[in-house]
Amino acid sequence: MLQQTVDRRSAVHEAPLELCVVVPTLNEVGNVEPLLEKLGAALAGIEWEAIFVDDGSTDGTPELLTTISQADRRVRMIRRVGRRGLSSAVVEGALASTTPVIAVIDADLQHDESILPDLFRAIARDGKELAIGTRYRAGGSTGEWDAGRLKISRLATSLASPIMKTRLSDPMSGLFAVRRDVLLEAAPNLSNVGYKILLDLVASSPRPLAVAEIGYTFGTRQSGTSKLDGMVALEYIELLLDKTIGRFVPVKLVQFGAIGVLGVAVHLTLLDGALSLLGLAFSYAQAMAVVGAMTFNFALNNRFTYRDRQLKGAAWFRGLISFYLVCSLGAFANVGIGSLVYEQFHGWALAGISGAIVGSVWNYVASGWITWARR
Ligand code: GDD
Ligand code: MN
Repeated sequence: MLQQTVDRRSAVHEAPLELCVVVPTLNEVGNVEPLLEKLGAALAGIEWEAIFVDDGSTDGTPELLTTISQADRRVRMIRRVGRRGLSSAVVEGALASTTPVIAVIDADLQHDESILPDLFRAIARDGKELAIGTRYRAGGSTGEWDAGRLKISRLATSLASPIMKTRLSDPMSGLFAVRRDVLLEAAPNLSNVGYKILLDLVASSPRPLAVAEIGYTFGTRQSGTSKLDGMVALEYIELLLDKTIGRFVPVKLVQFGAIGVLGVAVHLTLLDGALSLLGLAFSYAQAMAVVGAMTFNFALNNRFTYRDRQLKGAAWFRGLISFYLVCSLGAFANVGIGSLVYEQFHGWALAGISGAIVGSVWNYVASGWITWARR
């Protein structure tokens, strides 16, 4: 036993690591080397490592990182295959580290790496649990943002306040440091959707955290492009829903249900069109409307609800067929339960609604298993 301890100690060649910097990357090949250079300069005097988490960049980022990390022990990489998502990437990188303090910074040089030592010291020396870079405090600014983006950021920030257990001036910030055990404590409750890992962290933490805030100016991107798209807003709403009603119902069920309601409108529109414009017999018109509505529901759920397991190409068509089958069974369940309730209570509305609910829940559960099975 003693022998083992001694052996292990003699294997330590360098001072222990103090800080791990997690860097999510998606097509950032032009930014990796300048970032590492800046990190090296900013973090002089701190024992640090960097863990890059790459989600299948196609511009040579992972190849470049492989070459760099073969020469520089401070640099490591996690390559995720068939996965997407800034928050989950950051969490996986952080969980791969064993340093007492973990920092997160974007790869694209828009975050000011020169405040990293302050963030680190706020935790390592001053006893804080979380230290964030903020654009909304003294010394901070949003840089060259236009009025539109500013407004959206402010709105998102105010929407966040009910779910934050810790007051933060900039919960949307992607530049922060956290004590490792604090992250581990929150990890089981993280929603892991979308972009807003810091907000997720303070909402998932079981208690308020001791925080330091340090101002910084958000820079302008020099190389590569932003990955922020229309989905970011939707993912943000998903995060807020998951942190509020998520304890009671899965957010995916809410999305599935909302799309289902739209599907009913599509059904009625198609039915009306088929009857009045095409002059079809009711049974044909109804059949057409059913197929149309199912296709609509499939396409929207594939695009939004199951974006994380989105089916493309041939898989899209296979998924559509399986969705038709799932929904056909759902229709049987719907009619069966509806008839049972009708026999018992004789109320057509109650019977209709009960059938619809059971059928929809079946569709949700079964399509989650079959159509959008986790790979
Ligand atoms: N691994 C991985 N997977 N990395 C990603 C993904 C992904 O799906 N999406 C984006 N990234 C990486 C980018 O390569 C970049 O290094 C960083 O995450 C930020 O992405 P940007 O697309 O540049 O985001 P942004 O500049 O609009 O927003 C950033 O800054 C805001 C302010 O701090 C993000 O960090 C936001 O979360 C933050 O609010
Ligand atoms: Mn950016």
